[in-house]
Amino acid sequence: MSEARRNSRRLVSSMKRRALIPVAVAATMGPLSPAWAQEETAPSVTDQGAAPSAQETDQGAAPPAKEGDNAAAPPAKATEKVAAPSAKEKEARHESARHEEKPKRFDWSFAGAFGRYDKAQLRRGFKVYKEVCSSCHSIKMLAFRNLSQPGGPEFSEKEVEALAASYKVKDGPNQAGEYFDRPARPSDRFPPPFANEQAARAALAGNYPPDMSVLAKARGYSRGFPLFLFDALPGFSYQEHGVDYIVSLMEGYEDTPPDVNLPDGQFYDPYMPGRRIGMPPPLSDSVVTYDDGAPQTIDQYAKDVAAFMMWVAEPHLESRKRVGLGVVAFLLVFVGLLYYIKRKIWSDVPH
Ligand code: HEC
Repeated sequence: MSEARRNSRRLVSSMKRRALIPVAVAATMGPLSPAWAQEETAPSVTDQGAAPSAQETDQGAAPPAKEGDNAAAPPAKATEKVAAPSAKEKEARHESARHEEKPKRFDWSFAGAFGRYDKAQLRRGFKVYKEVCSSCHSIKMLAFRNLSQPGGPEFSEKEVEALAASYKVKDGPNQAGEYFDRPARPSDRFPPPFANEQAARAALAGNYPPDMSVLAKARGYSRGFPLFLFDALPGFSYQEHGVDYIVSLMEGYEDTPPDVNLPDGQFYDPYMPGRRIGMPPPLSDSVVTYDDGAPQTIDQYAKDVAAFMMWVAEPHLESRKRVGLGVVAFLLVFVGLLYYIKRKIWSDVPH
C-alpha cells in the first residue's frame, strides 16, 4: 500500500474514532498535526509489520466476515490483500456506531405548566417497581407513608400500613444490644434489595443497579440545536428528558449486532450511552397483572414505571406548578394595579 493511501486510511479511521473536535482539527491541520496522527500510526505499523501472524490468525478465525466486507468494497480493493479491514479498523467502525440514539419523545400527563400526575398511572407504576424492578434497584429516599401523601399515588393509609407490614426492616439495638428484623411501619423507608454495593455487584455479574430515588431527574440528554436553547431558559425548558429516556431504554433492547462483541452480562441497547447495558431486559408483556384494565404491555409498563420514578424524584411537582402559576397570575394582577396607581398619583402633575 502506498504511503499516501495508508495515510488517508488512517485519517479516515481516526476521524471515525473520534467525534467532532478531531474532525475539525483534521480539517484545519491535516497531516501537519503529528500528535494524534502518530498515536494512531504507531500500533497499526506493528500490526502490519512486526506481527503478521496475528493478522493471519485473525483472517483464519473469521473468514465469512472478511468476505462479506470485501464484497462490499470496490473490486480494486478486494484484490489487494492488505485492504481487508484490520481488527483496529473494525474497532474504529464500532466506535462510530457507539453513540447512543436520542430518546423518543412521549406524552406525559405531568408535562407543561398545568401538568398533574395521573394517580392511576402512579399506582400501576408502583406495582411494576414493586414486582419487577425492586429485586435489583433500591429506592432509598421513599418512605412507605409517602405513598399516601397528596400529589402521589395516594394509596389509603390502611393500604400503606398493610404494604409496610409485608416488608421486613432492620432495627435495633435492643436491650441485649442486638439488631433484629421487624415488620416495617409507614414511617420506614423502603428496604434495599442488597445490603451494599458489593453484594449487588457479586449477584449481578459485576453490575450495580443505581438507586431509583432520583434517577428520573438525574438522566438527561441534549436535544440538539435549536431545542437546547429553550432548555437553557428557566420556564421554557423541557423537563421530561429522564422519563423519555427510561421508556426508550426499556423498549430499546435489540439483538446484539453480529459485529459487536459484548462481554458476559452485557446487553445491547442503543439508548444506553455506549449502547451496552448491564441490565437484562426487565420487562416482558403480561409480567405484571394490572387490575384497572390498562394494557399489560412493555410499552405501558415502561411508561407507568417511568411516571412513578418521576414522582419519586419529584414528589412536589404538582404543588410546584400550582404555586408557580399562582405567582405568575398574582404578578400579572400586580402589574395592572401598579400601572393604575402610577396613573392616579401622577394624574395632577402637568407634563
Ligand atoms: C436483574 C436486576 C435488575 C432488574 C430486575 C432491573 N434492573 Fe435496572 N439496572 C440493573 C443494573 C445492573 C443496572 C446498571 C446497568 C449498567 O450500569 O450497565 C441497571 C440500570 C438501570 C437504569 C439506568 C440506566 C442508566 O442510564 O444508567 C435504569 C433507568 C433502570 N435500570 C431501570 C429499571 C427499571 C424501570 C426496572 C424495572 C422495570 C429495572 N431497571 C429492573 C439491574 C436491574
